[in-house]
Amino acid sequence: MKTAVIFASSHGTTEKVAAQIANELPNTDIINLKKQSKIDLDLYTHIVVGGSIHAGQIQGVVKTFCKNNMVKLLEKQIGLFICAMNEPDYDTELKNAFPELLMNHAKTKKVVGGEFLVEKMNFIEKFLVKKIAGVTESQSKINNEKIHELIAEISQ
Ligand SMILES: Cc1cc2nc3c(=O)[nH]c(=O)nc-3n(C[C@H](O)[C@H](O)[C@H](O)COP(=O)(O)O)c2cc1C
Repeated sequence: MKTAVIFASSHGTTEKVAAQIANELPNTDIINLKKQSKIDLDLYTHIVVGGSIHAGQIQGVVKTFCKNNMVKLLEKQIGLFICAMNEPDYDTELKNAFPELLMNHAKTKKVVGGEFLVEKMNFIEKFLVKKIAGVTESQSKINNEKIHELIAEISQ
């Protein structure tokens, strides 16, 4: 078993979650899609892909990665996760984040909560989260239970 945890993050929360998953699985590489786009997927038996939701959408680099590597990904044991904060929309956001083929193939897929990190937001982001979510201070809602479920389910 060799695993790649492949992610994109805007303010660092998905990166934190990806690192936690990588630390708890043996023989794992962690790959930031914003820094590395060419990945030799042949090296891995298991692949975890994660990103975060902003204005209803996962990062474009995650969408592109899934689309461009679909054939290879369908040969692997797959785990998918998103970081998100708008609980009523979690199911829809997860469903829209990844291609249907990959969702159906995945052994495990989770919404692991997230964080609002006000100090990392630009002016427009601060304005939006205040207007839409009423948030003016940083808050964390990372769901460790979901993270551990993902780790257990992909290892099976
Ligand atoms: C500008 C902005 C827009 C967001 N939009 C959504 C959203 O539409 N739905 C949602 O569930 N969470 C939304 N979030 C919450 C993020 O998904 C959450 O902050 C996540 O932890 C970010 O992870 P990252 O730091 O890895 O990018 C938004 C956050 C920001 C700052």
